[in-house]
Amino acid sequence: MIARRPLTDRVDEFTLAATDGSQLPGWTPGSHIDLVLGSPGVRERLVRQYSLCSDPADLSTYTVAIDRHRDGRGGSQYAHDTLAVGATLTISAPRNHFQLTRALHYVFVAGGIGITPMVPLIAQAQAASRPWRLIYVAKTRADMAYLDELTQLYGERVSVHESAHDGRLDLAESLSDLPRGTAVYVCGPATMIADVEAACADQVAVDAFFERFTVVDTGDRVNQPFEVALAYSGDTLTVPADKSILEVLEDNGVLAPSSCREGMCGTCEVGVVSGELDHRDSVLTPEEQSENESMMVCVSRCTSGRLVLEL
Ligand code: FES
Repeated sequence: MIARRPLTDRVDEFTLAATDGSQLPGWTPGSHIDLVLGSPGVRERLVRQYSLCSDPADLSTYTVAIDRHRDGRGGSQYAHDTLAVGATLTISAPRNHFQLTRALHYVFVAGGIGITPMVPLIAQAQAASRPWRLIYVAKTRADMAYLDELTQLYGERVSVHESAHDGRLDLAESLSDLPRGTAVYVCGPATMIADVEAACADQVAVDAFFERFTVVDTGDRVNQPFEVALAYSGDTLTVPADKSILEVLEDNGVLAPSSCREGMCGTCEVGVVSGELDHRDSVLTPEEQSENESMMVCVSRCTSGRLVLEL
């Protein structure tokens, strides 16, 4: 890590470079990387995902901004307490499940640290000369990372909502009557994503794309055992109610990459040949989930008793 600077009271920006000075892998706006935090044997190894918010044209560094309290599961706290300039970190290559689609108009909705993927996405929309606006919501302006940079660059395209003063934003009103061909990008708390999805649901030719902070609440869904057939190896495995597909694959020596193991990062995505799916991840869009072409094997399950995977 070559630099660290505070952006707000609870958000710091961390700049990373390759230890040998080489160029980092290319990425597109909306990408995230895994940061491996903690040391095996010293404390629990934490793998957490953070959006890249630097310039994809500059591969000498990656920049992430981390909210000390974001995940509540220790990763962000560990980064804030432990990472100093000069620290050596293991990171993954960038992955992108939030890329900018082609659209006539864009609306970006960011809640708090949800601004991080928006910074390069907005730059891409701006470079494409598409009309866009940003709705940035946080408790107060002082809690809004990158606000000064964004308002300096884009002026009135950035609208700010301070929930401490203005109460909860009425997204149904803010997103009413969007022009056809609008793509709405939202990253923030689950309630904000639900509000955006509801606001866009009945509008013609308006699509919503979202990036979640939190694990999907699967409520009281009951797990059933099922069979998994592996199309390439020909093996058939049984997934009991108390294990994930990923765990069963690992138990049987099948090479299956994984990272977060909570349906959030996309590392364990596997192609699906057949089977009815119960998607429980927060990576695939509802459209991608309904296509049933792939699944996150760390959390998602099968409801038809038998599943065939491209493994
Ligand atoms: S390991 Fe992250 S989505 Fe499955």
